[in-house]
Amino acid sequence: MTDVRVMHPVGGPMIGVPEVPGSKSQTNRALLCAALAEGTSRLSGVLSADDTQAMLEAVVSLGAEIEADREDTSLEVKGIGGDLRFEDLVIDCRSSGTTSRFLLPVLVAGKGNVTIDGSDQLRSRPFDEQIKALRALGCSLSETRGLGELPIEVVADGVNGAKVEISGSTSSQFVSGLMLAAPLYVGGLTIELTDATVSRPYLDLTVKVMNDFGVAVQQPNESTYVVQQGRYRSADIKIEPDASAASYFFAAAAITQGKVKVDGLHRESCQGDTQFVDVLEKLGAKITWGKNSVEVQGDHLNGGTFDLRDFSDTAQTLASVAAFAESEIEIKGIGFIRSKETDRIAAIVSELTKCGVEVAETSDGVIIKPDKWKLKGASVETYDDHRVAMAMSLLGLRVPHIEIRNPGCVAKTFPDFFSVLEKLRPRAIPLTEAVAVAAIDGPAGSGKSTVAQALAVELNLPHFDTGAMYRAVAVAALRRQVDVTDSAAIAELAEAVDIKINERTVVDGIDATDEIRSAEASHLVSVVAANPDVRRILVPRQRQWATELGGGVMEGRDIGTEVFPDAIFKVFLTADLQVRAQRRFQETTDQTLDEVLQDLQRRDHVDSTREDSPLEVAPGAVIFDTSNMSVEAVVSELADMFRLRVEG
Ligand code: DC
Repeated sequence: MTDVRVMHPVGGPMIGVPEVPGSKSQTNRALLCAALAEGTSRLSGVLSADDTQAMLEAVVSLGAEIEADREDTSLEVKGIGGDLRFEDLVIDCRSSGTTSRFLLPVLVAGKGNVTIDGSDQLRSRPFDEQIKALRALGCSLSETRGLGELPIEVVADGVNGAKVEISGSTSSQFVSGLMLAAPLYVGGLTIELTDATVSRPYLDLTVKVMNDFGVAVQQPNESTYVVQQGRYRSADIKIEPDASAASYFFAAAAITQGKVKVDGLHRESCQGDTQFVDVLEKLGAKITWGKNSVEVQGDHLNGGTFDLRDFSDTAQTLASVAAFAESEIEIKGIGFIRSKETDRIAAIVSELTKCGVEVAETSDGVIIKPDKWKLKGASVETYDDHRVAMAMSLLGLRVPHIEIRNPGCVAKTFPDFFSVLEKLRPRAIPLTEAVAVAAIDGPAGSGKSTVAQALAVELNLPHFDTGAMYRAVAVAALRRQVDVTDSAAIAELAEAVDIKINERTVVDGIDATDEIRSAEASHLVSVVAANPDVRRILVPRQRQWATELGGGVMEGRDIGTEVFPDAIFKVFLTADLQVRAQRRFQETTDQTLDEVLQDLQRRDHVDSTREDSPLEVAPGAVIFDTSNMSVEAVVSELADMFRLRVEG
């Protein structure tokens, strides 16, 4: 049976300072340079994960000696001083693209026979560009299975460097590998890029790490790198936290209206993926760069078009964030991620679609058209891709019933991902500390009233139906024959009318419990509720109502956005239009199903497009699709979520 992790929505802002493990890219570059260097290097803050373990074991098999501290985050590496000899060695790179693509050009510079291999996943990833470049340099390589794929047998006998041409449009790792190996080649190496390289910041990172280990790289122009023959020197290096891994926590803050700070990342970071923070800023999040930290605070999320060619490892994170945005988000420049751990574009399309997000594939990316009302739980396939698992888990922070299949695949780069994410779960708030309002918003027929009433009973809290207030004004208008389109007259009425809502609803001293639900009142109430003056009068009354009783379960259309934006727990209930119509039809006697459906559509439109406090998903609210659920099940889940937010 597949292992599955069920995500539980947080129902509040995620806040904290997560411990993000070291950068994979910097760790694997530093490990290789340290292993090739003369002398002993010290690396601190290194990542300990499957991909770095692959590099570590590989360099040990080449003769480097490594001592790790208890947590495996500090390493002492005694290098081999460029003395690369092996006999019938087989190196298993597991699923690590960096390990395999950095090592291949290095191995050809040694002496002996070596086979470089990896998992089935790595075997299906491309190597042809690098193989072609190395053959052009006279290296003897043979693929034993499929052309352009692992396993590759190398008969190594040193390399005369000279000049080589290579394309970096599939992966910059091919270029980084050649650069890292270049000092070992006789006469060094000049690398000419034949086209625009993807993920350029990774080449800058390679240059930086080589510099750290005493090797200079010249860049006479945009497309040329020149490395002289030479030797790496040992160094003491502090690895930065992994910016791609940090993207998930920044995204968590962005979508839950939370606040997340990562220490150790800064504006001049050597990792291109820190640019993800700039994307969040453009979307509307508040960013604070410190000297050695960056903090992201979530807010409303707008749409936009973003080119992620330079930091594509965060494309999946952005796609998940996009599901909660106010408008369309296009991610472009990432066609090449089709040949990563899996076809990442296909994975974004299929998995987000399952969760109710509309996604269109383009030639070099995706366009996401968010409609938060349609978000729903799903069983998410991860395709053994750590980034699918981490990115898709973000949806589960706000949408119930998201489950992540084979969650263990995160071990490739971030074995503790889920426990670090859990630590950001909002802390429990003592019920006495605030006006503890559970805000339940949603369109008509979403089950809001039934659920809110039952939830209040379950939690032993007062229940506030704010819709009844607007309905009471509509009833007063009907009784006094005031035209609802006369906004001034209706506002005057709202001011004057006496409304009491308890077990029964009483309007001007006369019981109106049934009257407020009549077809006539229902028909007029949207117009009443769309009147800004009416809202200005009723909203403070609603706040006062809940405050006097110390909070409770409050339902309406704008509770989480307007009435109690600081509610400790916010939920937006939704359901398919058809399901909502069916539910309403069963409650009414005077309308056909078709009439109910049309009336719902009209009210959805009026409620969500009106100027003043339109019906919308409150930032950070849990989005709960109740289409296929019983009231009891919804209430029981909401009660559990609420209890998690408050003490006891
Ligand atoms: O939830 P209901 O159907 O009883 O709501 C009646 C009307 O009042 C509906 O048109 C939406 C509107 N309403 C609102 O605008 N704001 C609220 N907080 C509650 C209801």
